[in-house]
Amino acid sequence: MRRIQFPQNLDSNSIRFVNKQLEATQDHDAVEVDLNSIVFSRPAAMLVTGSMLRRWREYRQRKNLRTRLVKLTDNEAHGYMAHVGFFDLIGSKKVVGKEMGEAKGSFTYTPITKISRPDFIDLQTWYGDIISSVRGLANVLAGSPEDTEEHRFYLYTLRELVRNVFEHSEATDCYICGQRWSDGRVEISILDEGIGISKSLARSFTVPDDEKALLKAIKPGVSSTSNVTSTDNIYDNSGFGLYVLSEIASSFGMFTIASNTKSLSITNAEHEISDLSFQGTFLGIELNKAPKHFSSLLKDIIYAGELDAKAHGSEANASKMSKLL
Ligand SMILES: Nc1ncnc2c1ncn2[C@@H]1O[C@H](COP(=O)(O)OP(=O)(O)OP(=O)(O)O)[C@@H](O)[C@H]1O
Ligand SMILES: [Mg+2]
Repeated sequence: MRRIQFPQNLDSNSIRFVNKQLEATQDHDAVEVDLNSIVFSRPAAMLVTGSMLRRWREYRQRKNLRTRLVKLTDNEAHGYMAHVGFFDLIGSKKVVGKEMGEAKGSFTYTPITKISRPDFIDLQTWYGDIISSVRGLANVLAGSPEDTEEHRFYLYTLRELVRNVFEHSEATDCYICGQRWSDGRVEISILDEGIGISKSLARSFTVPDDEKALLKAIKPGVSSTSNVTSTDNIYDNSGFGLYVLSEIASSFGMFTIASNTKSLSITNAEHEISDLSFQGTFLGIELNKAPKHFSSLLKDIIYAGELDAKAHGSEANASKMSKLL
């Protein structure tokens, strides 16, 4: 029996370590997965490795290969992972760790939430349905449902991320989670198992590889609908969602976008590309603090983006929705 060992720190640096083991063992007749070594886990890594693990398990199930989860010891990390729904995500019915332990009180979090695609009736209803699906998460991240600048920022961010999944990925579900520490740091992660960025952008552009696709997707005015007729642009996309989010997240912390074989992280103006192998798209936003004056910041970013798009020969103006708070 082969054993898959998880790292002590389940963070973005360890995703490849997990991924390699899953790839190497996928056709092996008997494999056990040991999650006991995990002492600390971050939401982004839980979402990505969780998705990889579930798909790997489903693949093995289809091939009638034997897979078992090593009995879990009840440690704090597992308690946290159970609370946030990691075991549901990987398709395991195991329930461990009823208490949050040490971490309790030092941060608030939203469990890994599965959001399913609403039916498309008309644009107004579509936007309304998507906003309703994320309002609860925004309330938790902002610490209250009050209409503050911070709340508007979270609602905007979550709405644009979820819209993207259902407008571009062809996936019918996505997984999303968020955390907010008492010192003001915030982390939001969302994952879908859809077609990925490069395939989506290929509707309007020639996209040579995943790396170029990620760099292109965050530019203002770049959308899968950039070169389709307005009748075919049913969601009124303008290519501003990811541009705005990447500008804000990279100056207030870190912005990560990953799709199929590549991951791109941006902090300030620094870009870092790394390899990855999963199916779909992941977006991660880590902030040291939330922007205090989001409404005016959004206006400035969109103004600069429209100028930038024009300078690059695109007539793109930000859509009503990407400007709406
Ligand atoms: N989850 C996703 N799956 C697949 N492709 C995606 C996903 N998210 C974004 N994309 C691709 O990245 C492009 C740029 O996204 P972005 O949010 O910036 O613009 P848009 O959604 O097209 O327009 P807008 O956000 O202004 O409505 C999309 O048009 C799409 O091709
Ligand atoms: Mg968008």
